[in-house]
Amino acid sequence: MARQTVVVTGASSGIGRSLALAWAARGAVVVLSGRDDDALESVAREVKAAGGEGIATAGDITDEEQRRLLVDRALHDTGRIDVLVNNAGRGYYAAFRDLDIDEMERLFRLNVLAPVRLTQLALEPLMRSQGAVVMLSSVAGVVAAPHLGAYAASKFALEALSISMRAELRTSGVRVVVVRPGPVGTAFRKNSVAVGVPAGIRPAGATEQTPDEIARQTLRAVDRSRAVIETSAFVRVASFTSRVAPPLFRLVAARMARG
Ligand SMILES: NC(=O)c1ccc[n+]([C@@H]2O[C@H](COP(=O)([O-])OP(=O)(O)OC[C@H]3O[C@@H](n4cnc5c(N)ncnc54)[C@H](OP(=O)(O)O)[C@@H]3O)[C@@H](O)[C@H]2O)c1
Repeated sequence: MARQTVVVTGASSGIGRSLALAWAARGAVVVLSGRDDDALESVAREVKAAGGEGIATAGDITDEEQRRLLVDRALHDTGRIDVLVNNAGRGYYAAFRDLDIDEMERLFRLNVLAPVRLTQLALEPLMRSQGAVVMLSSVAGVVAAPHLGAYAASKFALEALSISMRAELRTSGVRVVVVRPGPVGTAFRKNSVAVGVPAGIRPAGATEQTPDEIARQTLRAVDRSRAVIETSAFVRVASFTSRVAPPLFRLVAARMARG
């Protein structure tokens, strides 16, 4: 059987790096995307050591030409795409009144528009391989905390697009897997934009997961064709409560906003 080709965005660090190594351990060819060339080359070496093949493809995925180059590189070098992991993303912590529209546009270009466009570009090869699209959402894709409105809006948008895409692709054989982590121990908070508030909200009861744990659960979800996975008890409780008891959730959010 041919080696699987897995394209991972945001593979230079954090969850993306762990995903790349988890697929490498299965012998996959992992096409690694990110802007930091040196970090990607280093992950490519780790991928090789883990039993896979790493193809470092540096570029900014908010740029259409770079997106095309990424998908073309995967097809040119391996002839196939089995899994596209839309993982690259960042946070934006700010009070609603401080939200900067240009910053929000940059956020949406990375967290929403890049995954949409990359998935469109990879769709034909994914149909041929009967493959999977993985969308890295967040607990913020179903729950909006104070000072996280813009980030949550980007992840809510990703969730909505995933729901309709999954329905449209139902007979195509392409699976759409949404991953919803809570806090994970990565450079996410350091790489986020924060204005007037600290980067990082960790509500009581939310313990940090490791990126390796998120990767392990993600591969299992792809294997089992799961539509959505919530990666911790904290995410499951927050997600459930926000739907069944919205007034309670509004109280908690108001208390969080007061600090
Ligand atoms: N960590 C958490 O607590 C947490 C919780 C829930 C969901 N998530 C989601 O998980 C995903 C991964 O986050 P992480 O925690 O692993 O954070 P991270 O360590 O900051 O990784 C983000 C990745 O995105 C890449 N990236 C950023 N801007 C890019 C651009 N314009 N073009 C190409 N690549 C770009 C970065 O690479 P370069 O710098 O090399 O470009 C990096 O590899 C994100 O979608 C995030 O929203 C994270």
